[in-house]
Parts: sequence; structure tokens; C-alpha cells
Amino acid sequence: MASLQSFLAVKPAAGWATAAGARPATPPSRRAGVSACLAAPPPPPTTAASMGPARRELSAASQAVMDDEARYLVGTYNRSRVVFEYGRGCKLYDLDGREYLDMSAGIAVTSLGHADPDVCATIAEQSGKMVHVSNVFYTTPQVELAKRLVKVSFADRAFFASTGTEANEAAIKFSRKFQRVAHPDSDDPPMEFLAFSSSFHGRTMGAVALTSKSQYREPFAPVMPGVTFVDYGDLEAAKKFIQSGRVAAVFVEPVQGEGGIHSATQEFLQGLREACDEAGALLVFDEVQCGFGRTGYLWAHEAYGVEPDIMTLAKPLANGIPIGVVLVKEKVAAAINYGDHGTTFGGGPLACQTAITVFDKIMKPGFLAEVSKKGENFKQLLRTKLSGNPHVKEVRGVGLLVGIELDVPAGPLVDACLDAGVIVLTAGKGNVVRLVPPLIISEKELEHAADVIRDCLPALDVATT
Ligand SMILES: Cc1ncc(COP(=O)(O)O)c(C=O)c1O
Repeated sequence: MASLQSFLAVKPAAGWATAAGARPATPPSRRAGVSACLAAPPPPPTTAASMGPARRELSAASQAVMDDEARYLVGTYNRSRVVFEYGRGCKLYDLDGREYLDMSAGIAVTSLGHADPDVCATIAEQSGKMVHVSNVFYTTPQVELAKRLVKVSFADRAFFASTGTEANEAAIKFSRKFQRVAHPDSDDPPMEFLAFSSSFHGRTMGAVALTSKSQYREPFAPVMPGVTFVDYGDLEAAKKFIQSGRVAAVFVEPVQGEGGIHSATQEFLQGLREACDEAGALLVFDEVQCGFGRTGYLWAHEAYGVEPDIMTLAKPLANGIPIGVVLVKEKVAAAINYGDHGTTFGGGPLACQTAITVFDKIMKPGFLAEVSKKGENFKQLLRTKLSGNPHVKEVRGVGLLVGIELDVPAGPLVDACLDAGVIVLTAGKGNVVRLVPPLIISEKELEHAADVIRDCLPALDVATT
């Protein structure tokens, strides 16, 4: 690990000092050294293992992009110091030609990997035909995609948005409208919501109100009022609140992604279903991250045999073209009238035709079984390779939604993996490494990722000493 340690010891870029409080043009980072090593395109099949985790200076071109970002973009993202240029399959290539194994897929977005030929062909063909037309008209891709999603789910109807948070906003509105219609004589129908600890539902004012992390909500208060949080898995507390009769809907992720890769139990989801049925509340599954094949099931909730009234989807549906979907039972759809909700971009022909291509590939016989098998093997591999390291508390997850919980912040390990050519994410309170690769990843690539993670674990000791 000598090379890794010397690599970690590289000094921040010179010329860093700035006036106090000013946003720096060049933030200091231990990653300041990734640099040109390959000519692109097309990249030679250089792997992180063959390159080793040596750090080099960023090229002037990469540095210029970062400097311009610091100058021209609103500072909402604490970005890693790499400028990506293109991707192929499970590999990404930076501006300096360096190759990375992508264990993040955006954040659980590009399930078919980068530049999938069928996705590329669909985008080319559809964009040559028609990219956009208003929702005041019909288009074939929107209707065809809705038909496909309804046929393979609990739902009777679909509404299309452009992101996960918008799908959840629609679900919030649909839930309240449903309750208004269900209580025609009441001045005070159930309008509140139940959500859970470690939940993440998005950043807009309704969805963020359902998101547990207070730092996402508090700077923007008042967000949507009427949300109560109970601990994820605490069925008794949830039931008690649902029985109050004030709840329009319960929002729950069958497997939490951002919150740290926590899977619900069957008993918990079944208990929520029963409590909602008794009280007349709606059950909403947010499968924006865990749905559409990620867990090895088409829908994460299939593993539990519990169906929602509403389900929200987004990330992987069109392999990176923005799309969000709300799937609903007929009783919910029946409460929605013309003009109750709408969007300019949701359900556009480009996104929907691309999603049809992704859908057809994910639904091919054997695809999801492969995801399950690879996910199980990967977890076993990680448990074996990481066993004995005192910082590794647990390897968990389902399908290719995998988390490694640590007893320390995961940041140094994530940074070291990036430097070694493997992209991984954090989750939870920053102490979980989140692994959500493209679903097409090979066993060999997964083994390589596990090897690199193991080799980079000493970065955690460097950070804590
Ligand atoms: C479970 C869940 N819901 C909603 C969202 C918000 O989706 P978007 O970022 O597309 O608005 C996310 C994003 O990470 C998510 O993981």
C-alpha cells in the first residue's frame, strides 16, 4: 500500500489561499493529481489495477473546467475533482483520458451502462423525428410506455414527470385530492403525511418535507407542513399515527438508498398496508432509486408481496434521459380531473421512447435473474475480501443496491477508490459506501471493484491517524 499512502500524501494544489468566506476557485483536494495518461477516443483497456493508484497533476484542460465551474455555477455541489468526457458500458473516461470503473451509474441511473447501442439508436431516431410536443396533444411513445408499465405492475394508470422529486410532488397532490374526494362532506379531510427516518424523497418543497435529513429542510423552512416522521421499521409508532385518521398518505422506500441502504422487513410493509387500509390512508412506495430492476426484481416491493396505491419511479427508466413516473391504482386516478396537475416536459416523446427501449431490454428473459445473482455474489465477495478490517461493520443490500457500513466516515475511502479508478458513492450519515453499478456489469468488473475497495481500505486509517 506504499503507493496508495504516498498518493494520499500529495499536497493540495498551490495558490489555494483565498479571502475568508469567498468561494475558492480551486478547492483543496487530495485528488488534485489525476492526469492524462491515455489518448482518447477510443481508450485502451487500461484498468486501475494496471495503473495503480498513482496521482498525477490535472491537465490544464481539466483545471480550466473546474475553474470555470467555480466561477460560473451556483455552488450546490461539492464535486469530485474529475471532469468526465464520455463513457462506454461500465467505464467512464475523464478529459485526461483516464479510465474509471463506474460503480455509481450516475446515482443508480444508467442501468444499461454508458452509450448502450440500442439507447443511442433510439435517441438518434426519436430526436430526428420529434423531441417535444405539448401534453395538450397525444403522442404514441407516452401512451405505449404507460401501457407497458401498467401491464407489469399493480397500477392501472400512469402520470409522467421529469424527475423523482416531481413524481413525488405529483404523488403528494394526488393523495390530497384523493382524500378530498373520499371525504366530500368534511371541512377537514386527512391531509397529513407519514414518512420515516433516513428517508429521501427529493428537494422540492413537498418532497423535501418528506425527507428526514433536517439539513435538507431547515434552511428552506417553512416547507410543506403536516409531515410526521417515525423510525423506519417502527410499525407500532407508524400504526399509531395512521390510526389518528389525519393521514392522507404514507411515503416509504421499500429499500432506502440515500439513507444508507436499509431494506424494509416484510412485516413492516405488510403492517403499513393493513394500517392504511383500515384508516383509508394511501400507501406510496418511492421506488425512484430501488425500482425498475435495481434489486433484481422489477419492483423492489415484489420481494415483499405488498402492493402500494401509488408508486413513484424515475432514475433508471430512460437510462439518463430525464423522466419521472407516478403509477396509481384506479381509485386514485378517479379523483384527478383535467387541470389538477400537469407539466411541460413530463412524458415527452424522447424520454418515453428511450424508456421503452430500456424497458424492453430489462424485461428480456434472464436479465433480472442475472442482477440478483451478480448482487448476491458481489455481497459475498465483499464480505470475504473486506473481512477482518475493523472499520467494516456490515455489507448489506439487495440486488445491485449494495452498502458497506463503516465505523468512520467513508469519504477517504471513496476518494482513494476514485484515485484508483473506481467510482463509488457515499450514503447514510456519510459512513456507508454505496455501490449501484450499471445492471449490465460483469462478474469480472465486480471482482475488480471489490479488490480496489479492499486495497483502498488503509485510506481510512490514514484519515483517522
Ligand atoms: C428514493 C428517492 N426519491 C426521490 C429522489 C429524487 O429524485 P430526483 O433527484 O430525480 O429529483 C431520489 C434521488 O436520489 C431518491 O433516491
